[in-house]
Amino acid sequence: MDRPIANNNEIKVTPVDIIVSKTDIMGNIEYANQIFFKLSGYNKRELTFEPHSILRHPDMPKVVFKHLWSELKKGHEVYAFVKNLTKEGSFYWVLAYVRPTLNPDGSLRNYVSTRKLMSPTARETIEPLYAKLLELEKSTGVDASEQLLRDTIAGRDFNQFMIELNK
Ligand SMILES: Cc1cc2nc3c(=O)[nH]c(=O)nc-3n(C[C@H](O)[C@H](O)[C@H](O)COP(=O)(O)O)c2cc1C
Repeated sequence: MDRPIANNNEIKVTPVDIIVSKTDIMGNIEYANQIFFKLSGYNKRELTFEPHSILRHPDMPKVVFKHLWSELKKGHEVYAFVKNLTKEGSFYWVLAYVRPTLNPDGSLRNYVSTRKLMSPTARETIEPLYAKLLELEKSTGVDASEQLLRDTIAGRDFNQFMIELNK
């Protein structure tokens, strides 16, 4: 499937929208709910077994996904603001909560994500921060953006930082 070209059209997420998806351990989509289809513009056939990066927006810094996968691999849950790209090239912002789920024997089963509306206050902080992180990645590399992210969080817990911002 061709990657959509990003445009400036924003898709509004409403307070009642809870966007759910489930992936296999590689990050390929196994399940998505109706709201997910509606916002992303893709149907069930187009999304099932596709890598979740199908929604990756070019404005998203790599370091956010690096952090997400590194935490998931450790068995931790992650909260992160994500700007997603729709099939039409539009975008929508969400606060994503992603966690691993386990089999009865304790082995990794899959990953589940629920996402909700991003608050205007969070947007004011996150949009310029992500823009700076992205710029650093292009000019210097991911190590530099990782350092800026660490400096911004300043010793606080990453998840707590994201949750607090969304209040
Ligand atoms: C359960 C789950 C949900 C995810 N949701 C998103 C998402 O909504 N948008 C997104 O860009 N990446 C999401 N990702 C991360 C992608 O797997 C991927 O790492 C990211 O899009 C960056 O793509 P890249 O690793 O190919 O650069 C999710 C991963 C998991 C495991």
